[in-house]
Amino acid sequence: MKIGILTSGGDCPGLNAVIRGAVLKGTEIYGRELVGFRDGWRGVVEGDIIPLGRKDIQGISKEGGTILGTSRTNPFEGTNGAETVRENMERLGVDSLIAIGGEGTLAAAKRLTDAGIKIVGVPKTVDNDLSGTDYTFGFDTATQIATDAMDRLRTTGDSHGRCMVAEVMGRHVGWIALHSGMAAGAHAILIPEQKTSMDQIVEWVTSVRDRGRAPLIVVAEGFTLDTMDDAHSERGLDAFGRPRLGGIGDMLAPEIEARTGLETRSTTLGHIQRGGTPSAYDRVLATRYGMAAVDSIVNERWGRMVSLQGTEITHVGFDEALGKLNTVPQSRYDEAAILFG
Ligand code: F6P
Repeated sequence: MKIGILTSGGDCPGLNAVIRGAVLKGTEIYGRELVGFRDGWRGVVEGDIIPLGRKDIQGISKEGGTILGTSRTNPFEGTNGAETVRENMERLGVDSLIAIGGEGTLAAAKRLTDAGIKIVGVPKTVDNDLSGTDYTFGFDTATQIATDAMDRLRTTGDSHGRCMVAEVMGRHVGWIALHSGMAAGAHAILIPEQKTSMDQIVEWVTSVRDRGRAPLIVVAEGFTLDTMDDAHSERGLDAFGRPRLGGIGDMLAPEIEARTGLETRSTTLGHIQRGGTPSAYDRVLATRYGMAAVDSIVNERWGRMVSLQGTEITHVGFDEALGKLNTVPQSRYDEAAILFG
């Protein structure tokens, strides 16, 4: 019987390295046949597969994206859920699944596990917000891209004497902002876990300006001010009351400019953080995750997610990964805050 692999949810640098690690370990060490389901759970509920042999995964660990495609399809919406999945797996001769994804994917994997389907999960997200593992693959690459971008924003900001705001990914948690902000020497790091006042941001900006430097601020997309009244000034909103140009960075920039008199520009890095070549760290982590997922399947450890604990790859039950986010602890924020202003 075959092992099926799927990549689901938003893409992430390192997905192909997981696939390669799983295929090499599965075929070369265990003599198993692997197939890939196309476009995440869509391929599972529609029975859309491609073969995954050694030649299909040659040289892919350095490639961004996923050779399998991905989607945000939920296998429990518009189908018979576990029954549809079970029927398709039986028909295609697939006895177990490796589901590579974030919270949504793993929540679906848990429901399928509860229905008796044999699944192992692999934690994927650039945001690093999954519990049950020290790091998700993709986070290191996204952080490096954000750091490089801020290094560039700094030289143009310095040249013009402007305040530069970089908006990075992080819907619920601020790991990318925290790490890239520390690495690039940002003068303020704004994250969803820490509500901050506009007055405090203005204080940091003016103290940097008064030292003759151009302020650099990194803000995670999910950040909110402690009182939104301040930011909801007319300057940041369009005629419908929506942020005029997009996200929180675009809302903060005009406010900072108005309050400090310092010309301010905002750049949203967006999906650039998810595209392109994975870092060496992510390739290695992802490859190890892929191999460990196959080990779990062969050892019949279903309903588990492979996980990094320190430097060891182990696995945890889906429950440990789900239901609570891996947020930035207060101590990590306080440590970074020593560098602010
Ligand atoms: O969850 C990862 C993430 O990159 C978030 O930081 C971001 O808000 C979201 O995905 C973007 O998703 P989409 O690809 O659907 O625009």
